[in-house]
Amino acid sequence: MKKDFISVKDLESAEIEEIFLLTDKLKRQKEKFTKALSGKTIVLIFQKPSNRTRVSFEVGMYQLGGNALYLSPHEINLGVRESIHDVAKTISRYADAIVLRTYAHETILQMAESASVPVINGLSDFEHPCQALADVYTVREKLKRLKGIILAYVGDGNNVAHSLLYTCAKTGMDIHIGTPSGYEPKKEVVEESKQIAKAKKSSVILFDNPHQAVKNADVIYTDVWTSMGQEEEAQERKRIFRDFQVNEKLLRVAKPMALIMHCLPAHRGEEITDEVMDSKNSIVFDQAENRMHVQKAILIKLLGN
Ligand code: CP
Ligand code: NVA
Repeated sequence: MKKDFISVKDLESAEIEEIFLLTDKLKRQKEKFTKALSGKTIVLIFQKPSNRTRVSFEVGMYQLGGNALYLSPHEINLGVRESIHDVAKTISRYADAIVLRTYAHETILQMAESASVPVINGLSDFEHPCQALADVYTVREKLKRLKGIILAYVGDGNNVAHSLLYTCAKTGMDIHIGTPSGYEPKKEVVEESKQIAKAKKSSVILFDNPHQAVKNADVIYTDVWTSMGQEEEAQERKRIFRDFQVNEKLLRVAKPMALIMHCLPAHRGEEITDEVMDSKNSIVFDQAENRMHVQKAILIKLLGN
């Protein structure tokens, strides 16, 4: 049976560890995997812009000996020119997997339902699972452990926050989420993550104050205040999120060596200052690089023989 990758929620903790172990190998012994997906093709259907997701999937696939084909929003015009069902059925006849970046999470679920090949979530309004796996892999690489590590996410309770909640909980990290009230992550995600964390003896704690959220944190993570598709709210969000900027003043409350993370693209001067983004503790480009390595592991797990 084909397996999709739509949410970190669907992965067992052991599967995440397997992905991380394979990623270690892919990073250290790249030359051993140059034919791993030879003859395979993935199709990227993107309804939103992208730098990292598109490039890391395309280059990653080439490095594994396979091919990648990118379809921009206008080419497919998903659900308008053709139904999601018909697109899924058609592409399944040509390609070995679909990476979909879209707005409504439901679109990905429908694509997965109709496709006979694996569907990978390349970001929806609800989750960004490839990002969170790469992020936690990066923390593990830098700090050599996950248990007992506090990651403080400061900003909007969005798609990235949701995937981080699941991933931190599943890997035994403690996660603090600091958002303005009304911008918390979705209740169901918080509740599910708390349940998972309980079994792992780790914690999920929500704050409406950024200083409390980052207290004692080993890692401070932020993302844009206005996600793709929310552009009309940008001005209002700038006002509401003003006190949640990751800047030098906020860092004084965290551990002195706290790592700085951002999934990128960053709106420098809004959610993060240049000073922090370019500081020696910033690992934002390591995260970006690890997107590719982790996704190569995911592709091998889903498509490899
Ligand atoms: N972090 C991330 O997904 O970047 P892109 O939007 O550029 O793909
Ligand atoms: N929350 C952001 C993440 C971009 C990678 C967005 O959805 O636009």
